[in-house]
Amino acid sequence: MSDRRLSRRQFLGLGAAGASGLLLQYGLRQSRISPSDHLAHQSSAPGLIFRSAGSTGAGSVSSPAVARFKVPLPIPSVRQPTRTDATTDYYEITAKQGRKEILPGLMTTVWGYDGEYPGKTFVAKRGRRIEVKVNNELPEGISCHYHGGVTAAQHDGYAEDITIGGVTLPTLIRPGKSWTYEYPNEQGACTNWFHDHGIHHTAEHVYRGMASFYLVRDDEEASFNLPQGEFEIPLVFQDRIFDTSGNLVYDANDHAGVVGDVQLVNGAPWPRLQVKARKYRLRMLVGTNWRRYDLAFSNGMPFTQLGTDSGFLRAPIQQSLLRMYGAERQDVVVDFASVPVGTTVYLLNKSKETVGTPMEQVMAFEVVGKASDDSQVPARLTSYQNLTTSAAIAKSAITRQFVFERTKGYYAINGKIWDVKRFDANPRLGTTEIWKFINKSGGWFHPIHVHLINFQVLSRGPIGKPGKPWAWETGRKDVVAVPENTEVSVIIDWNAQEYLNFTGPYMMHCHNVNHEDHDMMTQFQVLPQA
Ligand code: C2O
Ligand code: CU
Ligand code: CU
Repeated sequence: MSDRRLSRRQFLGLGAAGASGLLLQYGLRQSRISPSDHLAHQSSAPGLIFRSAGSTGAGSVSSPAVARFKVPLPIPSVRQPTRTDATTDYYEITAKQGRKEILPGLMTTVWGYDGEYPGKTFVAKRGRRIEVKVNNELPEGISCHYHGGVTAAQHDGYAEDITIGGVTLPTLIRPGKSWTYEYPNEQGACTNWFHDHGIHHTAEHVYRGMASFYLVRDDEEASFNLPQGEFEIPLVFQDRIFDTSGNLVYDANDHAGVVGDVQLVNGAPWPRLQVKARKYRLRMLVGTNWRRYDLAFSNGMPFTQLGTDSGFLRAPIQQSLLRMYGAERQDVVVDFASVPVGTTVYLLNKSKETVGTPMEQVMAFEVVGKASDDSQVPARLTSYQNLTTSAAIAKSAITRQFVFERTKGYYAINGKIWDVKRFDANPRLGTTEIWKFINKSGGWFHPIHVHLINFQVLSRGPIGKPGKPWAWETGRKDVVAVPENTEVSVIIDWNAQEYLNFTGPYMMHCHNVNHEDHDMMTQFQVLPQA
């Protein structure tokens, strides 16, 4: 990318140049990034309206009014392979521009896989390989990251060209070029996803639409008799701003990217789903650039949580409130059986930024009839080693500390910004490590994502005196929320077998993707088992 050099900038942290009504209303610190940086990140490709460099936050543009709970919830269709053989399903997709009616009556230019937003869902079967050839017909470099996938480094969707053993591979797919990704799918059933990871454009590209689900299925999941078919619903939550013509409005200059004023689920504004009075399995993903969710139902009914980012829990847990930050997934069953037919239940976002605003409502479930239901939630789900309770494991673990902060205007990790030539950790397969993530800021939160592996959360809370993790965080995760003024410790089993002996460079970053684009990203080098 020619803008690579431009973007290797020394930008100054400009404080709030003016007040952002919306951000102030949300009690957030205004965080502008300098205009020179803005130019480096802002693409000149059509389809996105940028707030001018002088504008100050989300308050300055608001989307056209939309009638809520009218648009039916779209369900992304399942992506079909172009060919299959004994071991492998082969796909070919083209990243390109498309047009879509998102707000009723207006057309929006999107970027997507085959021009679609959201993209079609990959469904992988454990033990069957997938190969995906991606052609780039967009005017900017892209990199397709299979988020949650256990893949070789050169197939992980590296943000830049990857160098392995002194050889540099063109993994940043330039316009007109392609790359074929190989996914072993040796991991257990889980809710993963697929999104762009191009250096310094990830946030913008995801905002334009480059994201889809990637579900892994296995025999254990099939044995559970969970709600399936039309009763299993993927839900990706995102927020956007549109101008009066339906164009997406973006701001690469804002620490949040944007704070959208339209809530989208599966690409539809405040949609409505007609359901039967029975159990549904919801596969939920937060695909926002910034927004976080405290999900609850308007009638107080609980979620039965089956799994989190990297697969099933050991046993289901009941929650009346589910907290999700950017890139996190929750696999839940909800039961509408006790809801009277003809009643509408709303899914709400009770996060502190959202309560009392139009964004507090997410979508509507309208119970339209009775139905038989032989699906079940088993009392036990899957077995895996609980690392969080083993004092012996914790004692022998190598500890690493990562401070996420804004230093001299950068979004930095331990005071350093992304540099493809530098590694900040070299974990060895076969060992156990504890990584402590620290956020001393009261102004922003960071969802931290580690590629390749999953971890379990040991502790979270105020810096220096953390307490227990949230209930579901002893499950296996690949993203962890690090809220304002807190520290979080996670434990990682660098299990050579689970990670298929993959070694080499992998990334870790904030999944508030505008922070990632502004260089809150590092990489580690996985070493072979001793
Ligand atoms: Cu979902 Cu490195 O990202
Ligand atoms: Cu990832
Ligand atoms: Cu961040």
